[in-house]
Amino acid sequence: MASSPLRPPRGGRRASRRDLLLGLPALGVGALALGGCAQAGATTDVENVLSISLNQTESHPSFQALSFFGEQLAEATEGRWGARVYANESLGAQQEVVQLVSDGAVDMAVISSTQVENLSMDFRPLNLPGAFESIDHQQAVLSDASIVGDLFASLEPTHRLRVLGGFTQGSRHVYTDRGPIEGPEDLAGLKIRVQESDVFMALMRALGGSPTPMAYGEVYTALQAGVLNGAENNEVSYVTQRHDEIAPYFTLTNHLVGLDYVMANVDRIEEMDEADQQAYADTFAAAQEEFVRLWTEETDASTQQMLDAGVEITEPDPEAFGPAIEEVGRTFLESAEDEEMYRAVQAVAESMGEEDA
Ligand code: GCU
Repeated sequence: MASSPLRPPRGGRRASRRDLLLGLPALGVGALALGGCAQAGATTDVENVLSISLNQTESHPSFQALSFFGEQLAEATEGRWGARVYANESLGAQQEVVQLVSDGAVDMAVISSTQVENLSMDFRPLNLPGAFESIDHQQAVLSDASIVGDLFASLEPTHRLRVLGGFTQGSRHVYTDRGPIEGPEDLAGLKIRVQESDVFMALMRALGGSPTPMAYGEVYTALQAGVLNGAENNEVSYVTQRHDEIAPYFTLTNHLVGLDYVMANVDRIEEMDEADQQAYADTFAAAQEEFVRLWTEETDASTQQMLDAGVEITEPDPEAFGPAIEEVGRTFLESAEDEEMYRAVQAVAESMGEEDA
């Protein structure tokens, strides 16, 4: 296991939720008013409101699916439990928030798989280019307990974190303030924002750009200031973050199908009685289905919005970036366990292919 940036659970008395919140200046007074708020993303009139941290805007499918989760949870538990989604990194960037969920200061969060890998390298095989052939393949892997069951529970003893499931990030692509980008030579010397991850640093180098790790919420300003020449993401993030306004060249590099995990503090879930814990799990499964439906819809809508806004979309020759991307995938399979998980993931794709045939 990799060294973790998170503090291990403290021995002795576990700090109460109130202690932790009071010790968190970043949350601010407004954010402490978790209950009874009639704001978007909030569940009203419930006894216990779970705080959910998100770095996306209110129009992103994750916000909508998690708001739906809060409403359904309130209904299923007859008002005992609900949720409020804090959008736009208002509780912090993912790298900090994962610590807050571990400590119990925030109850749940959407965390990119790259950040989870920074806690445990066991998650890495699912983050590699080439791991998932498609969103359907990724969904099938996520629902295969023989692959993800132990993995998703593995952070409970060390970090009090449970992975409830995943929301796809779809295919990720590169976009820039100049273009068109047809191959690695066109990215030479361009500073491209990546997530804070070794795999993404190597991937961007292989694509030809100069990788610049940075938190998601800082990218717009950095692009605007010319500190960055571009970034990489899916169509939905590109449009909802308004990056199309300043980096209007979008290249379909398809470098990987990314994944967000929805994570929760285990102690908080265990405050629920058994029936409510079951309702919580069932409601999350329903929210995951809602997310998949919204994702397809929003990806199509975002592509249309890009075309309407005059974004130049380039489809490069698959050979231009393809071999370099595959090579990065292979380089990061470092142990026999990684290889085993990677093979199990590939086997799911093969069996899906057989079913289609
Ligand atoms: C996607 C993903 C986020 C992630 C972001 C990023 O938008 O859904 O969870 O933080 O990419 O590039 O940082």
